[in-house]
Amino acid sequence: MATLTRVKVLNPAHSNKSTAIFGGEASGILNWNDLAHPHFYTLRQRIRSLFWTANEVDMTQDVKQFANLSKVEQEAFLKIIGLLATLDGPQTVIAMKIADFATDPSVKSIMATIADQESEHNHSYAYVLSSVTTLDKQMVSFEMGRTDEVLMKRNARIVDIYNEFAENPTIETVLKAMVYTTLLEGLFFYSGFAFFYNLARHQKMVGTSTMISYINRDELQHGKAISDIFRAALAENPEYNTEAFTEWIYDQFRHSVEQELIWSRYVLGEIEGIDLDEMAGYVKYRANKMLRMLGLSEIYPEFTDNPMKWIRAYVDNFDDTKTDFFEQTSRQYVKTSDLNGFDDL
Ligand SMILES: [Fe+2]
Ligand SMILES: [Fe+2]
Repeated sequence: MATLTRVKVLNPAHSNKSTAIFGGEASGILNWNDLAHPHFYTLRQRIRSLFWTANEVDMTQDVKQFANLSKVEQEAFLKIIGLLATLDGPQTVIAMKIADFATDPSVKSIMATIADQESEHNHSYAYVLSSVTTLDKQMVSFEMGRTDEVLMKRNARIVDIYNEFAENPTIETVLKAMVYTTLLEGLFFYSGFAFFYNLARHQKMVGTSTMISYINRDELQHGKAISDIFRAALAENPEYNTEAFTEWIYDQFRHSVEQELIWSRYVLGEIEGIDLDEMAGYVKYRANKMLRMLGLSEIYPEFTDNPMKWIRAYVDNFDDTKTDFFEQTSRQYVKTSDLNGFDDL
């Protein structure tokens, strides 16, 4: 299988419009009005419209409240931040690596924007933890990704697939890495997000949950962008569009859902207000959504709707016409009305 070569920065002999997303030819000059895939312009605009920084979120109340959370809640809080940090650190890097091997300059640009947001997500976890707990506990939380057995088992396939692409970049390994990116953006974060929204609906740690909702919005748009790029790349490489590859994707989704459910029982089992059966349905509903975005069929027909009704107030209906649930912000994150559609994500 041909190894993808790292693309030159500029290659004036080639045209500005790329001949392929990966393994093609392009000059390196990006003209958004002359793209091989014109709809990629909108993908970038939607992501850019979500700009925010962690420091803008007021943590004053959370600082006071953290000490009043139950011990179980405090532990889950630190574990889940540990999980999110373990996912968002590598997300920054994988976005840059995909950019490195993409020929199409619009894909490089989208990936650069995603990488920037992932780096802010990662920063936001340090920002939250430094607001609410001691340095010792912050350190433990950030060590979880390489010390907690359940978390490591849960992340084992992500590690394999991401590292395989890093060590052996081919069309196949980049497609697989993008499938896992879609899983991260659209599924792996969501039981963690639900934990914070559940606190918020009990008027606890609203600052943290506000930040989580901004991260959540970003991840939904990233999932949309990556799955669109994946579909376009697969269409350009039809020899990979096989039954075996489709089965591989379904298998990864089933495995990921299983892992997510094990993880959610482990970390949320004793949290008041979270029904684990409802959570399992929510995770399966997310899996269905992401499969549809990849152009595949749903594998959990009984979960075409979100069974975790209460979470809709926080995440499921983001769009610019509704007021932010979290009243502490008056910012309008999405500035251009025709570039929305969170309901579809
Ligand atoms: Fe992220
Ligand atoms: Fe993301």
